Amino acid sequence: MGIHLLPSSFTTTTLLLRTTLTKPNSAFHMASTSQNGLSDQKQKQGLSFTDYLRGLSILIYESFFEKITSRHLKNPLPLPPLSDLTIILTGPTSGIGLEIARNLTFSGAHLVMAARNTKAAHDLINQWNHERSSEDDDEAKLLDIEVMKLDLLSLQSVVKFAQEWNSRSRPVNVLINNAGIYSMKPQSFSEDKFETHLQVNHLAPALLSILLLPSLKKGSPSRIVNNSSTGHFLGFVDVDDMNFTSRRRKFSGFKGYTSSKLAQVMFSSILQKMLPGESGISVVCASPGSVRYTNVARDLPEMLQRVLQPLSFFLYTPKEGCRSVLYAATYPQVQDYTKSLKAQNSLVCAYINHDCSFGCVSKEAQNLEVSMKVWEKTLYMIGLPSDAVDKLLSGDTVEVSKKYKNE
Ligand SMILES: NC(=O)c1ccc[n+]([C@@H]2O[C@H](COP(=O)([O-])OP(=O)(O)OC[C@H]3O[C@@H](n4cnc5c(N)ncnc54)[C@H](OP(=O)(O)O)[C@@H]3O)[C@@H](O)[C@H]2O)c1
Repeated sequence: MGIHLLPSSFTTTTLLLRTTLTKPNSAFHMASTSQNGLSDQKQKQGLSFTDYLRGLSILIYESFFEKITSRHLKNPLPLPPLSDLTIILTGPTSGIGLEIARNLTFSGAHLVMAARNTKAAHDLINQWNHERSSEDDDEAKLLDIEVMKLDLLSLQSVVKFAQEWNSRSRPVNVLINNAGIYSMKPQSFSEDKFETHLQVNHLAPALLSILLLPSLKKGSPSRIVNNSSTGHFLGFVDVDDMNFTSRRRKFSGFKGYTSSKLAQVMFSSILQKMLPGESGISVVCASPGSVRYTNVARDLPEMLQRVLQPLSFFLYTPKEGCRSVLYAATYPQVQDYTKSLKAQNSLVCAYINHDCSFGCVSKEAQNLEVSMKVWEKTLYMIGLPSDAVDKLLSGDTVEVSKKYKNE
């Protein structure tokens, strides 16, 4: 398999599954003609008041009651043996990702820390190896862990990472797209000219997931796990303005974050439909709950942080918040669940709640026609051809357009 960069004149042509979308009686058709169909969507500029209220209630309920609703879960979550697994984890240097990394590596997985701050990742490895060597166990070995550079604000960095990994011809059993941002600063754009939430939380993980498909196929049964968010219940994706540049919708960090998380869920649902059962690759989104002491909201104004301080009493610590993602990444039940969803021709991907129960994505995320548009638009934006999944799974070369397209 090879990934080639194409000159900037390359354009994506055919759009996938158009025919399936219009087939009468198909699950796709049923979704597209629902009350929530695209013709309505075209006029929609955001969530309806009731959908917004529903999303807000889910978020508030989760934040105040998550410790109670998950009191049956052990902390830390016991993990099955992982010594045969190779796991790539993005954003392993702070917050939830750091705890995911720690649990996976201490449970014996071969862990690849895909980090933008490689020094911080190496410092963590030294610290963990030191902890390991000071354990009483004479048999304790050094951790099976390595660091690779990945900056999600650069799609070129994602391509480089995937090329390097795929060139090793080693399998990947689990890819965990954990890294994410929530910024309250004024709207900003990546070097690829995409809104930064959209790029870090959705576009770059989407590119990474697709480019790593050959290695995930080698490692099958394998999983792509996205660290999602209950915030996606408050998201709305305007497929004609994913970058928030048309000024139809006023940008805010909250809108940027929730829309990017919704786009990720929608993309995941289509990806799981595109992946043939024989590939053995499952796609799962997991919500960590509302988690304090992470850096995700580091940009919140100090005043707001003070106001929110009392709320932190109710929130998960990162150790608690990492459990649903670890569950999604390692428990055999999850793969059985994704298989059963596939067999039922489910419209949406598997979604794991903060308490490790099987949940459901938001009403907006169940709109298959919009999800399909998000899929097509995403492939276009990240410079992949519409048949990238099929090509990569059959061992063909995929051409990645060098000049990414920002609308
Ligand atoms: N905290 C919550 O309440 C909550 C709730 C729902 C979902 N989540 C999701 O959980 C995930 C982890 O969040 P967290 O709360 O643990 O936040 P965090 O402490 O800020 O961790 C984010 C991680 O992502 C990495 N990252 C950020 N930008 C990156 C980039 N351009 N390239 C590569 N890595 C990058 C960070 O690296 P650096 O160390 O270099 O900054 C860090 O390791 C996110 O996807 C977030 O949306 C969090």
